[in-house]
Amino acid sequence: MAMASAKLNTLSSQWIAHSTFSPRRGSSPRRVSLPIRASSYQHELVQTAKSIATPGRGILAIDESNATCGKRLASIGLDNTEVNRQAYRQLLLTTPGLGEYISGAILFEETLYQSTTDGKKFVDCLRDQNIVPGIKVDKGLVPLPGSNNESWCQGLDGLASRSAEYYKQGARFAKWRTVVSIPCGPSALAVKEAAWGLARYAAISQDNGLVPIVEPEILLDGDHSIERTLEVAEKVWSEVFFYLAENNVMFEGILLKPSMVTPGAEHKEKASPETIAKYTLTLLRRRVPPAVPGIMFLSGGQSEVEATLNLNAMNQSPNPWHVSFSYARALQNTVLKTWKGHPENVEAAQKSLLVRAKANSLAQLGRYSAEGESEEAKKGMFVKGYVY
Ligand code: 13P
Repeated sequence: MAMASAKLNTLSSQWIAHSTFSPRRGSSPRRVSLPIRASSYQHELVQTAKSIATPGRGILAIDESNATCGKRLASIGLDNTEVNRQAYRQLLLTTPGLGEYISGAILFEETLYQSTTDGKKFVDCLRDQNIVPGIKVDKGLVPLPGSNNESWCQGLDGLASRSAEYYKQGARFAKWRTVVSIPCGPSALAVKEAAWGLARYAAISQDNGLVPIVEPEILLDGDHSIERTLEVAEKVWSEVFFYLAENNVMFEGILLKPSMVTPGAEHKEKASPETIAKYTLTLLRRRVPPAVPGIMFLSGGQSEVEATLNLNAMNQSPNPWHVSFSYARALQNTVLKTWKGHPENVEAAQKSLLVRAKANSLAQLGRYSAEGESEEAKKGMFVKGYVY
């Protein structure tokens, strides 16, 4: 009993009063207090999350590790050098007008500390367009011993000090991507490890002023049905929220990055955007509290047009959260093919980025039509066993 009340006292000291108004019928509004986790950054975290989750805007994910960026460059015949990575990221981050559709950009560590060839920090290019800089903080996937050939995500060691440095450099949100594989089980161990890692990372990020993007990607790999994906996604998200709550993570200051609920990539039938929207929204309504400000989907190997159509279908009626995008492949594919590494193509490539960003902005508002989309944008990008 004494221990229990001591525990309660410690807990209550972690919370402070937050004033808000509660309207009462027939009387003037009354001040009430809401508990919010005490962190010197709490109000800033809420503001950052809200500013990323603004109507008609979403996230540009360009946080590929150097190895994965190398694969993007190789697809257009370029070597994986720092100069080429800088040129590609410069093209993307200096696109005029990008801030109208993009509210946040996730960067890899190299890019966070990099500048344009004219010496302007990439972070400042973003700020000038009212785009919040973000940073990938996980250290990638490695085999999970004792599991069914599954993986776990590294990066908690030293995360607090790294996050504090990233904040100083201008980052205001973070991303941690772990994966769950349906064909491999998923085992209870892999789901628990994924959820616990995400929760520890989220708590550490919030303590250091970074809004954590919580991303347990359920891989498209497999021939399972959409019902099976929903079943696994429900299990994964219930564990994620259990551990987020256990770690005292403030839900108003996080963003989610789920995969859409689709059949496996090798399933015999494809699902329509309406079916995908129905299953995905069912998952979200069952598992995600309305306190979470934004759901920023990953594209996971869908074609650019598919990812946009699915997002559009999810925004046909109002949702409790801002339902938007945080795409890497589904924003970059046409850009790369247009650029081809030639300086004279930079302007055309930037225009093609704007086309995709605007299409997804319209989809966030539920007003997108695929009329006039290019054949390139309809090409699927699924890669079996994809590593980010
Ligand atoms: P895509 O699945 O949209 O390529 O991106 C995954 C991701 O985590 C990017 O941050």
